[in-house]
Amino acid sequence: MAEAFTPDFYLSEFNLYVELTTLKSNLTAEKNRKVRLLRQLYPEVNVKLLKKRDLFRLLTKYGYGPLDPEEVPDIDHILISTGKLQQRVVEMGKQISSDYANQEPVLVGVLRGVFCFLADLVRHISVPVTLDFMSISSYEGDGGGAVKILKDLDENIKGRDVILVEDIVDTGMTLNHVLDYLWAKKPASLRVCTLLDKSVRRLTTVNVDYVGFEVPDEFVVGYGLDFRQRYRNLPFIAVLKHELLP
Ligand code: IMP
Repeated sequence: MAEAFTPDFYLSEFNLYVELTTLKSNLTAEKNRKVRLLRQLYPEVNVKLLKKRDLFRLLTKYGYGPLDPEEVPDIDHILISTGKLQQRVVEMGKQISSDYANQEPVLVGVLRGVFCFLADLVRHISVPVTLDFMSISSYEGDGGGAVKILKDLDENIKGRDVILVEDIVDTGMTLNHVLDYLWAKKPASLRVCTLLDKSVRRLTTVNVDYVGFEVPDEFVVGYGLDFRQRYRNLPFIAVLKHELLP
């Protein structure tokens, strides 16, 4: 007796056939039987049976989900997928490598939001780099956007070529204060690299040399950025549901 099996997708990059299945046990059992038979008869054919949950997990991992609201219920939508982030970070790393050819810049990351971006970025910079970190907090309620240094640099940046690396520039107030603080340490040069630029919200003139993506006036989380310390681990940049914001 001849039997037919027509998988839902063929992923050419992986030479893999994918069959999606529902949770109904009689259907899954029948599909499992066919897949087993197929593997026996044609061991060279690569085929996987994916349940709905497996598919959602894969989509989330590669930045196309989560389509299932149960997975991350606070997210409104994904703004920048994992793939787009990675592609842009590679380009930025190449640009910095070419601009700093024959130099050894000091990359200063502002914690904590920058940790994902900086970790990925340095792996695409081909010139030697020194890494350092600062941690700051905004003085609340003074309206001037002054910052308090919670963790200072460990390196001496006098005479060095410094690149300040940020997760996001919003009003520009934080960046302005940090730049003043760093200039006082007399670096030879000081440039700014940010993954995200919410320039529509800018309140002060500040020059940003490398920008990953312009973002609209929305509160974004993921890839290091948080809302009340959550969501830093999401592998994409997403817009938080408006009703969660104060
Ligand atoms: P600025 O001083 O207004 O430019 O604010 C910059 C800082 O505010 C960033 O380093 C972030 O910590 C935080 N921030 C601004 N916008 C967002 C956002 O959309 N998501 C998460 N954090 C943000």
